[in-house]
Amino acid sequence: MRAGRFHGFVVRRGDAAFGYVDRCPHMGLPLAQKLDDYVADDRIVCSWHGALFDPESGACLGGPCPGTRLTPWPVRVEAGTIVTA
Ligand code: FES
Repeated sequence: MRAGRFHGFVVRRGDAAFGYVDRCPHMGLPLAQKLDDYVADDRIVCSWHGALFDPESGACLGGPCPGTRLTPWPVRVEAGTIVTA
């Protein structure tokens, strides 16, 4: 990936936060077709072809891209605020 702008999203789980680049490993599309529509039934979901990803690891759990994972975006929580490098 080139340096510069990218789209990302963050999933909160309790006090932890997990960030990912908004790009599905199946076809490279942004996961959500509607604003902030990334999670259903405790899984990250790609809205195009239904790939499911683990919110904490980004690993594909089902769908058309087995063995892949989302690209991590390093984030952390500091005093309740999400920050990135
Ligand atoms: S583009 Fe995400 S499952 Fe196909």
